[in-house]
Amino acid sequence: MASLSATRLLPSVTTSASATRFSYRSALSLSSLRSSLLLSRLFLPQKSALGRFSSRRIGYSTVPSPKCSASDPDQLKSAREDIKELLKTKYCHPILVRLGWHDAGTYNKNIEEWPQRGGANGSLRFEVELKHGANAGLVNALKLLQPIKEKYSNVTYADLFQLASATAIEETGGPKIPMKYGRVDVSGPEQCPEEGRLPDAGPPSPAAHLRDVFYRMGLNDKEIVALSGAHTLGRSRPDRSGWGKPETKYTKDGPGAPGGQSWTVQWLKFDNSYFKDIKERRDEDLLVLPTDAVLFEDPSFKVYAEKYAEDQDAFFKDYAEAHAKLSNLGAKFDPPEGFSLDDSPPKGQPEKFVAAKYSTGRRELSEAMKQKIRAEYQAVGGSPDKPLQSNYFLNIMIVIAVLAYLTSLVMN
Ligand code: HEM
Repeated sequence: MASLSATRLLPSVTTSASATRFSYRSALSLSSLRSSLLLSRLFLPQKSALGRFSSRRIGYSTVPSPKCSASDPDQLKSAREDIKELLKTKYCHPILVRLGWHDAGTYNKNIEEWPQRGGANGSLRFEVELKHGANAGLVNALKLLQPIKEKYSNVTYADLFQLASATAIEETGGPKIPMKYGRVDVSGPEQCPEEGRLPDAGPPSPAAHLRDVFYRMGLNDKEIVALSGAHTLGRSRPDRSGWGKPETKYTKDGPGAPGGQSWTVQWLKFDNSYFKDIKERRDEDLLVLPTDAVLFEDPSFKVYAEKYAEDQDAFFKDYAEAHAKLSNLGAKFDPPEGFSLDDSPPKGQPEKFVAAKYSTGRRELSEAMKQKIRAEYQAVGGSPDKPLQSNYFLNIMIVIAVLAYLTSLVMN
């Protein structure tokens, strides 16, 4: 106990916050981008998660502390704030949602090995996959996120794509998605999945096709319908997917780059209007793809589509669950259980060891010393990453005891 109290007198930890704002590069076409410096960075392999170190200022010196997770939780939180800023200026919510979905949606539950099974592994950053027909236009989403990726080197692409997507849903008024992080990135383009794993918008038999594709990902009818509700956001552009009108009264003035055809009137607001609109089909200016229409035609899909058209809360609840599940498909997490960015301490995260401030600050505490400190904190109901509340009464008692002991020594 005495060692604990005495250590409180030592200097406290200061962590450096990275708050520098970045400036966004102007939009470039893929061809001009190819010749630029950005391209070389855009398609560069992610450095290995292993052996990555981040510096943290502790006490008087900067001490490298080993990172055990694929992404740094603090950097992810800062990246989330930067994504919010990006959304405010670029109105790119829909394309970021589509980016996250297309990275994850290549998952094949019948393949066990990572990364051959596909899924949320950051492979969509590579040119070879961006060139798949289904991904037309997504290079623009990558370009928007690239400055954030460069700013936060300890955030993986796989996490960044899913973070951007979930943030976009939440920022447009959608539900809070129970996300976890720690996705490991594939390291090279040879690890990208083959073309053809994502759904077509106009297959001969839309219901059977949706089931083929989504069941392969391990998703069910309810999840197919709920996730299709993401089309409440965004537009389809004939020059990208081949679907939709070049512009409508709802898209000709933007926001963001004008044009395309939206599924809903307010295509930057996440609500259940997608289900209402595709059910009614009253407005020529709103898009209904064959794979949207089938949600009210197939008996099993229809149960959910009708429910979501009536009850936005039910849609939000099912959407949030399905989106979180989608975002985890095929992902390899480090730590294996992943971690959350929200209030509760991140699950599976190594202890921060604020208690390290009690060391000289020159080197990492030994495991034995950590155990000793951990045990001392736990004995009084604390933890090494949370300093204990000051216990003045206890301190006074210790001072009195020391004084009494010294007095008795002097008297003898
Ligand atoms: C059910 C099968 C699906 C099909 C056939 C499909 C097809 C399409 C097509 C053709 C586009 C237009 C792309 C363009 O021209 O730029 C699009 C856009 C979009 N999709 Fe899907 N999609 C499906 C499922 C999903 C899912 C599961 C999500 C998300 C969870 C999603 C989110 C989006 C978003 C947000 C956009 C708008 C992108 C933008 O405005 O840039 N889609 N989808």
